[in-house]
Amino acid sequence: MNDAFLEGMSRAANSVCVVTTDGPAGRAGVTISAMTSVSVDTPKPTLLVCIHTLSPACTAILANGVFCANLLGSDQAHVSNCFAGRTDATGIDKFTCADWTTNHTGAPMLLGALAQFECRVVHENIFGSHRMFVGEVEGVSTKPIGDPLLYFGRDYAVPTRLTS
Ligand SMILES: Cc1cc2nc3c(=O)[nH]c(=O)nc-3n(C[C@H](O)[C@H](O)[C@H](O)COP(=O)(O)O)c2cc1C
Repeated sequence: MNDAFLEGMSRAANSVCVVTTDGPAGRAGVTISAMTSVSVDTPKPTLLVCIHTLSPACTAILANGVFCANLLGSDQAHVSNCFAGRTDATGIDKFTCADWTTNHTGAPMLLGALAQFECRVVHENIFGSHRMFVGEVEGVSTKPIGDPLLYFGRDYAVPTRLTS
């Protein structure tokens, strides 16, 4: 069943984020596809990210209480690979693969990303291998033009519009 599940999930075209954090527990980041909007009816909008409990970024987000979901553009696959552990860079050295700024929460915001959602953790829970963080969005920045980086069929892709 697990193989069938993974095969089925490989058919889902997902956007790719690098989730970052900084604070008393230090700076960390990880590549994820498990990011989605939760609600805009809460006092502030909320979004969900799911991160493996063994990821140092998971531990750091829990301790820092803040994160930034950086939505990658189609020209940022190298950043995804770096924060997915697919290069030689480890720990905070991963941050040398791109340029960053900070704003509301102190969590690193990826320059050139399609969107950056700065969040404060308002709910978290472990389910199976992953910790689910719900973040209250304290700031959003968006790039006016650009294609998203997608992950589909176990590889990167870019979208093609069916209408103009
Ligand atoms: C496109 C893509 C999507 C991923 N999505 C997730 C995800 O949603 N959650 C997660 O915990 N890991 C996800 N990963 C895996 C982590 O990025 C990977 O395990 C990483 O090496 C963890 O490194 P760390 O243990 O140093 O944090 C994804 C990787 C890639 C390439």
